[in-house]
Amino acid sequence: MTTTQSPVHDAIPSSSAAESHQPDDNGVHISRDRNVERRENGLTINRARKTFRSAEGKLVHAIDDVSLNIEAGEFFVLLGPSGCGKTTLLRSIGGLETLDAGEIYLGDQRIDEMPPYERPVNTVFQSYALFPNMTVEQNIAFGLEMEKKPKDYIKRKTQEMLDLVHLSDIGKRLPSQLSGGQQQRVALARSLAKSPKVLLLDESLSALDFKLRRQMQVELKRLQRETGIIFIFVTHDQEEALSMADHIAVFSKGKPEQVGTPEEIYDKPANRFVADFIGDINFLDASVHDAGSVEVEGKILPVAQDLSGYAKGGGRERGRAPGTHHARPCGGGRPAGHGRNGHLHGFGCALPCPSRRRYARADPRQPAI
Ligand SMILES: Nc1ncnc2c1ncn2[C@@H]1O[C@H](COP(=O)(O)OP(=O)(O)O)[C@@H](O)[C@H]1O
Ligand SMILES: [Mg+2]
Repeated sequence: MTTTQSPVHDAIPSSSAAESHQPDDNGVHISRDRNVERRENGLTINRARKTFRSAEGKLVHAIDDVSLNIEAGEFFVLLGPSGCGKTTLLRSIGGLETLDAGEIYLGDQRIDEMPPYERPVNTVFQSYALFPNMTVEQNIAFGLEMEKKPKDYIKRKTQEMLDLVHLSDIGKRLPSQLSGGQQQRVALARSLAKSPKVLLLDESLSALDFKLRRQMQVELKRLQRETGIIFIFVTHDQEEALSMADHIAVFSKGKPEQVGTPEEIYDKPANRFVADFIGDINFLDASVHDAGSVEVEGKILPVAQDLSGYAKGGGRERGRAPGTHHARPCGGGRPAGHGRNGHLHGFGCALPCPSRRRYARADPRQPAI
């Protein structure tokens, strides 16, 4: 997802209002998020909402007014803690869940009103869901046979998929004769055989052991690059997200807190939640020294953020509650308490490390400040 490419299909009028109204195909006026533009062959989610009622009768806003642009050909990761709505959003794209409000488009085509089997979207389930009594080849060919594709096409496509996932020599085996990693590859090949435009993967690697998981991360990335299909990959594992994604949406409580490249999310967390969720970060008490530096425990440290709008010693005059200004220490550090009175309630501020492009992770065992 980027905001720099010019949209092929600008669904949003250039209004300065927070939202605008345009008639859809049926002449019904729908509100659009002005930041969301439909992209050619990309996936657009516009103001999606889904609310459940819990067993105790409470309303749970699983998807809370979500708007996202996912570009054609990208590996997009939905990242967030358990219960933040990742699965619900994925199921809504796949058609296993119906939105309460909002729309989902693939290019120009509105897909959220289509039955699941008509959507050019396929899902890889964590459980693999292979047919135990069918060989690898038969599992891969199954979907194409249901679609009544010509026999020679099915044969060719099945072979192509076996080659793609490097399983050509074991096409005649049953799933019970395969390792976990091989079963995962068959599940992937079966999902890709139907040539979907979007592949949805929900915590697809979490059943695998660490080493295999690493191998499959590389494999998935290769498959995505070779096929050019949009992959939307759900995980709660930040390392997995950072290593695989072109763009990441970090979710909390049904909403994206930040959408960006792994570098943007890591180096410039938009808020405290993202900073805390991504990587091992220490939060340090700091107060503003001048426009380019803060004071941490008596030491003056430079910061990347422009602090010229803040008064020396804190941010009370801007009406912010006294709290914490957090920072990534360079080359070590130690965990510090936060929330002391008089300190700036800041966000996304990082201490630049002069020796490396990326900010250093803090090692809690080595006090540096
Ligand atoms: N069918 C359902 N009925 C009631 N609540 C649900 C249902 N599905 C999901 N939820 C609730 O919606 C929230 C988001 O769930 P989910 O999308 O599964 O999160 P995640 O995949 O990020 O762990 C959670 O609070 C969950 O309990
Ligand atoms: Mg889930």
